Amino acid sequence: MCGIVGYAGEKNNAWEVLLKGLKRLEYRGYDSCGIAIESSKGELFLDRVKGRVEALSEKISNKKYKNISAGIAHTRWATHGVPNEENAHPHTDCDGSIVIVHNGIIENYIEIKNELKDHNFKSDTDTEVIVHLIEDNIKKLNKGGKSNRLEMLHPIFFQAFLNTLNKLKGSFAIAVIWNKVPGVILAARRFSPLVIGKGEGENFLSSDVAGFLEYTNNVYFMDDDEIAFIDKNNIVFFDFNGKKKNKDIKKIDWDIKMAEKGGYKHFMLKEIHEQEMGFENTIARRVLPVGEYILNKEINLTIEEIKNFSSIQFIACGTAYHAAYVGKYLFEKLGIKSDIDLASEFPQRAKIIDKKALVIAISQSGETADTLEAIRSAKKNGNKIFAITNTVGSTISRESDYVIYTHCGPEIAVASTKAFTAQLAALYVLALHFSYIKGNLLITKAREFAEELLEIPKLIKKTLECEEYVKEIVDKFEDRNDYLFIARGINYPIALEGALKLKEISYLHAEGYAAGEMKHGPIAIISDGMPVVAIATTQTELDLIKGNIEETKARGGKVIAIADEDSKKFIRPDFYIKIPKVSEYFAPVLTVIPLQLFAYYTALKRGRDIDKPRNLAKSVTVR
Ligand code: F6R
Repeated sequence: MCGIVGYAGEKNNAWEVLLKGLKRLEYRGYDSCGIAIESSKGELFLDRVKGRVEALSEKISNKKYKNISAGIAHTRWATHGVPNEENAHPHTDCDGSIVIVHNGIIENYIEIKNELKDHNFKSDTDTEVIVHLIEDNIKKLNKGGKSNRLEMLHPIFFQAFLNTLNKLKGSFAIAVIWNKVPGVILAARRFSPLVIGKGEGENFLSSDVAGFLEYTNNVYFMDDDEIAFIDKNNIVFFDFNGKKKNKDIKKIDWDIKMAEKGGYKHFMLKEIHEQEMGFENTIARRVLPVGEYILNKEINLTIEEIKNFSSIQFIACGTAYHAAYVGKYLFEKLGIKSDIDLASEFPQRAKIIDKKALVIAISQSGETADTLEAIRSAKKNGNKIFAITNTVGSTISRESDYVIYTHCGPEIAVASTKAFTAQLAALYVLALHFSYIKGNLLITKAREFAEELLEIPKLIKKTLECEEYVKEIVDKFEDRNDYLFIARGINYPIALEGALKLKEISYLHAEGYAAGEMKHGPIAIISDGMPVVAIATTQTELDLIKGNIEETKARGGKVIAIADEDSKKFIRPDFYIKIPKVSEYFAPVLTVIPLQLFAYYTALKRGRDIDKPRNLAKSVTVR
């Protein structure tokens, strides 16, 4: 995964600009990091550490960089080579004059390494071959390094970079500097995200806009197989044949405060509390208060097209997959046949999907490699793709035929919370719109649905009042290492999500199960004092889960129920977290909240690194 940042300009504190950028990209990986600063005289300063950006910051705090012209930096999530200083980026060529940072995987690095036998490799990474290949190409073009004239070196650097790119297989977002042409950064992208920020007398690059949002919100989103030439005054784009390209600049409306903690101990807790805002912003202007509803003109999906698609095929990963799973129940309840696949499993069956099915891909980051691959395989099959994402300009948004954005602001904590409920918000809007147009929902029912949808943000706030009680429950289970989450129907994906959240940030063993499956196996693991979280909101769910609750208690398990106020008379759990009463469709938005808090406080109690759990990264751009 990894995060990269770059700066071309003369700020004396350019290294701070880069470190701040890295800090904001740490969600992408955080096992090691490094920085390279270049002066206008061609001096290069390079520092790397095993560990987090804080450690790098400490290491370079006493250094005085002067006459700065450019810099690049990297935060790593190891794929090739263990996390240590040697494998941390930036990497350099043999004599340390060309410096590179890279996010992605070079698939043919062994072949290239074998061809560069006379080069001195210092790491186990795939990345290092790129910088040696550039060195090699420069030597060939510069006939052994004879020319020292800047006007000659610019095109040589560019051509050597171009020749290198055309030899690479795999995925990359790369930034390179060469001390013979100070102030110039060459960058390129294939499959890994890269954005360029345009400033005044300075320019930036980053894996995502959060890396430079403090300085500019004027952004170019790079496409696959594009190169950017960047110096303090210019940003010029080329394709991989070296032909110039024009690109449109976009203004991003996120502000930097949204990417800060705002008084909360962790981003995750802040984001849990931002769910009312995220949900509200996502439905705003898409569902009118009068009970009329419109999907504005933001998607050019015509009424005819909606009528014509035969069914929905959902694809997503992780938490987004759980949102999609709620979507499947929701659309089917509204009369639209739906299917769902994990994005990583989808490509192998893409060919048998009905070509008239609309594929809905859900992704917070908009960059998840598995989801992207699933989209590409569905497109190959002839399906239209509808994306739901939180990231304007992301690869998934650009490769899809239609897109609607969730508007919950940047999600920084690795564990996804507010993006999940915002994804549900987007699904409610779509389900309402599609089922009305398809004639499955009559106008009065559609109005009722819309009216209730508009009430949900308030109910999210009310549900968050359970926080103190959730903390008390967590205390009761401080010595437990295994947890079970069960539910039925539209709440079943919430049981999966509750277990995933707990696993991710507390590192405890947790399983989510359809309650009906309990007696087919999982009941065997219930032992004295084992916590079982049971979620039920409809009468049918309550009637059925009652049995699971009693069976659990009979075997010594402790039941934590998540249900609405009216259900007390039907079930007898050990702990009872109440959520406001809503119709079945909307229950998942509320039932997930106590589970997010449960995971958060369990992880807090065990002293885990909540925002950056071990082994994970937020944006999974490798397959
Ligand atoms: C879980 C989590 C991951 C992501 C998954 C998909 O808390 O964050 O499971 O949901 O990696 O990521 P996106 O939504 O960016 O495609």
